[in-house]
Amino acid sequence: MAFYVTTPIYYVNAAPHLGHAYTTIAADVLARHMRQRGEDVFFLTGTDEHGEPVALAAQREGITPRELGDRNVERFKALLPRLGVTNDFFIRTSDPEHADRVREILQRVHDNGHVYKGTYEGWYCPRCADFKSEQEAGEDYTCPIHRIPLDREKEDNWFFRLSAFQTDLERLLADDSDFVVPRAFRNEARVFVAQGLRDVSLTRANLKWGISVPWDPDQVFYVWFDALLNYVTALAFARPGEDLTDRFWPATFHLIGKDILKFHAVYWPALLLAAGLPVPDHLYVHGFLLMRDSEGVDHKMSKSLGNVLDPFEVLDNYGADPLRFYVLREVSFGQDGGVSTAGFAARYESELANELGNLAGRVTAMVVRYRDGNVPQVELDPALGAEIDVAPAAVCRHLDSAQLSPALEAAWQPVRRLNRYVEEQAPWALAKDPDSAGDLDRTLASLVEGVRVVAVVLLPWLPETMGRLLDALGARDRSLAAARYGAEVPTGVERLAPLFPKVEQIEATA
Ligand code: ME8
Ligand code: MG
Repeated sequence: MAFYVTTPIYYVNAAPHLGHAYTTIAADVLARHMRQRGEDVFFLTGTDEHGEPVALAAQREGITPRELGDRNVERFKALLPRLGVTNDFFIRTSDPEHADRVREILQRVHDNGHVYKGTYEGWYCPRCADFKSEQEAGEDYTCPIHRIPLDREKEDNWFFRLSAFQTDLERLLADDSDFVVPRAFRNEARVFVAQGLRDVSLTRANLKWGISVPWDPDQVFYVWFDALLNYVTALAFARPGEDLTDRFWPATFHLIGKDILKFHAVYWPALLLAAGLPVPDHLYVHGFLLMRDSEGVDHKMSKSLGNVLDPFEVLDNYGADPLRFYVLREVSFGQDGGVSTAGFAARYESELANELGNLAGRVTAMVVRYRDGNVPQVELDPALGAEIDVAPAAVCRHLDSAQLSPALEAAWQPVRRLNRYVEEQAPWALAKDPDSAGDLDRTLASLVEGVRVVAVVLLPWLPETMGRLLDALGARDRSLAAARYGAEVPTGVERLAPLFPKVEQIEATA
């Protein structure tokens, strides 16, 4: 089955931060998991380079928007391999192929009768690139998100007939629909629609940095319509000489933060309907990562507030896996949650080092010590297997609806079970008693096989360390078909360097 997952395309007005990494990591976990299931996966990320957010930032730095984009896009691109992210393509909205497709699709929207000339008069936030209604505008006409004064705008531009899609959107966001997950965000979008949809500007007259409008070349398309279309346009040119649109459109999941819900849950499906294109299957919406200070108080992420969890610093010290694990483990996906360097250190120590790292280290070391690294080929403990085998199915079930937090919790259960098994069986005691050799064989084989299954299931979250563990177990099949107790019992193990070495001095929050 085709599985197409996307992240938002990020503004190149500043360097990437942990919030961007978060969405991208989550999408990568889904992509890796679906590949493990043998699905036909396409995973897209990229950058949003047009509109005021970028034009104004460039102006502040005294360079052109293109120069700013060219510089910052490298930082977004460089972050991906460091996070272990396996995107299939990286789109830039400044790619000429994107612009051509945008013009083509929006010309069709125009020709279908959904565009008319009008005058926009109202409030606008240049940082959100969003037209704010009187209700949305904050106190004294400031942006409720950026807390900057809104601009009073009046310009003649082209309007998209959003209001024509009122009924379609009501249906798309109805009670029985799983278009927007979790449900709370579906309801939020529905409240917006219920207020009555008003037509929106499709183009901008007073801005030069964007994609020119084919039927009125003095104007450029409003950045959000240009940006949203990336999800479709990328498929047409990601692979030279090949058009992937029929294979992957409509998208299975768009992963987004809650800040851009309105654009994705309302404008985007309406635009697609107007263009005669199918609507994506699901939007999966997550909350904000907040910076938790030493008093346990959460703050909006901002560089001016010291003490932030700097993804680059964590990556330098620990590599990708601990960061991937931490952000998805610490914050319940779909809700806001605080992260901190102290919280990172605590989970690294208690879960990665003590639970998973020790389990893998102990089990491999015992096979080396008691059986010269040869895994006894004996019957496995079936009771243990029955418990382990629950996990892969649960992980699949949760990830089918992008329930990332329950999925990771399900994947973690066998780690805990196997640690208890070590304590219950006490192989070190069995090793002292020659009469218990058979029991020791069975215990070691059962543990090694359990650890192998766990490693396969956890691969999407911890690709580097679980890959190393599977190498040490000589396990070749990394697909989810192999995540079944007894499917590929290792014959021998190699000694394993600590997967999550203890770090004596972890930079604690001041
Ligand atoms: O909105 N916590 O780009 P953007 C969690 N270009 N996620 C966060 C976050 C935080 N504190 N901060 C950012 C745009 N994100 C548009 C999108 S899509 C067609 C165009 C993540 O650079 C989250 O995914 O402001 C959020 O939705 C996105 O970055 C916004 O990135
Ligand atoms: Mg933003």
